[in-house]
Amino acid sequence: MANTVLIGAQWGDEGKGKIIDVLAEDVDIVARYQGGNNAGHTVKVKDEQYVLHLIPSGILHKGKTCVIGNGVVVDPVALMQEIAELEKRGFSVKGHLIVSDRAHTVFPFHGALDACREARLSEGRKIGTTKRGIGPSYGDKVSRVGIRIGDLVGDDLMSKLEGRIEEANRVLVALNGEPLDVEKIKDQYAAVAVKLSPYVADSVVFLNKALKDGKSILFEGAQGTMLDIDFGTYPFVTSSNATAGGACTGTGVPPNRIDRVIGVIKAYTTRVGAGPFPTELKDETGELLGKEGHEFGATTGRPRRCGWFDAVIGRYSAMVNGVDYWAMTKLDVLDTVKTIHICTAYRHNGKIYDSIPSDKRILEECVPVYEQMDGWQVSTKDVTDYNDLPDKAKAYVMRLCELTGVDLGILSVGPRRASTLRIAI
Ligand code: GDP
Ligand code: IMO
Ligand code: MG
Repeated sequence: MANTVLIGAQWGDEGKGKIIDVLAEDVDIVARYQGGNNAGHTVKVKDEQYVLHLIPSGILHKGKTCVIGNGVVVDPVALMQEIAELEKRGFSVKGHLIVSDRAHTVFPFHGALDACREARLSEGRKIGTTKRGIGPSYGDKVSRVGIRIGDLVGDDLMSKLEGRIEEANRVLVALNGEPLDVEKIKDQYAAVAVKLSPYVADSVVFLNKALKDGKSILFEGAQGTMLDIDFGTYPFVTSSNATAGGACTGTGVPPNRIDRVIGVIKAYTTRVGAGPFPTELKDETGELLGKEGHEFGATTGRPRRCGWFDAVIGRYSAMVNGVDYWAMTKLDVLDTVKTIHICTAYRHNGKIYDSIPSDKRILEECVPVYEQMDGWQVSTKDVTDYNDLPDKAKAYVMRLCELTGVDLGILSVGPRRASTLRIAI
């Protein structure tokens, strides 16, 4: 398969894990390029369900190599738990997983700072983070005081770590938080470093050599375009580049080795956490989407906010990611909806916006411009061929593609591998 970047086109939870799992079959390597264990990717294989946070969803296929790239922030304790859980369920991770020595580490003080900062923000300003320490860890990275995975398995970890915990403790105390036990963290990380060391390697050299040898790579994005630190609904975003450009900076594979971009997009919209959401439905239709789509955060268990499909977001995502094909998911969730709305633009103070404005106030205050389509009102859950879909369902999907200017590559009508209609990919 062509070297492919897979991104989330909305606010995350589009079903990236499921699509990665399906496409992993056709590649040699799956490489995650950003985010951390704030991500939660649920994959259903037969009757088993797996939730992956750091390890690429390709791990569920035998013989694939999975890479956690330099752009990821890694909580090594959480990673070792994830590895242990997979091994317990019969997957061999050792020998199939590489963790970049350039990736940055998430420590307990990052999580404590994340929670403390959130607690201090007033209502309306809280981001609703996953409290996994993602922002503070990326903060240390760009402030040039982070500890990388390579340092974790190196010789002078303890002195570096002590300095970082002591500084974090001063900040925590100043913010009315609890200081952390320096010795306890040092002991815990000395032990986890030993367990992690067999997985650590120079992933940049590994990936580029693999490409030279004719191997193919699937680049796995976490979160989504609207959570991207640069292109999302700032400041209600995550702290990394979830968009396609992040695949290069987050793995060390140059742009001219990437052949195409697949955008995963839900047939409606969800968001977990705070921030503007123009098409949000706070009524029984929103509740229905949440119930039918089982829309609960895979990492925090929080209910996801639900709303109509937003073609402004779709167009914007297509533009900033260079999406070649949509992998559209969860069409089946709309099976019982009588009249479906599609947002085509925003109206604010008499002005029409057909791209995402950078001003979050406009996004908070705007009124979506909707067009309506008839629902198909029959089940699509067991459909395995696109041609067998009801005409009204096909018309809806085609309209979404038309409004966003992207062709349909894959259509998903259920969580399992079998419910994946491969159209152009
Ligand atoms: P990710 O973070 O983008 O990987 O998405 P999540 O795994 O957090 O959320 C997507 C959820 O939808 C998971 O529980 C999937 O099993 C489920 N899912 C994926 N595709 C479909 C689909 O086409 N139909 C339905 N009903 N569920 C789906
Ligand atoms: P996947 O990969 C949905 C959201 C959080 C919060 C904001 C910042 O499963 O799609 P953070 O902990 O990253 O500092 O939180 O980002 N968020 C996600 N929402 N899916 C995710 O990942 C998310 N990862 C972070 O809810 O609003
Ligand atoms: Mg998710």
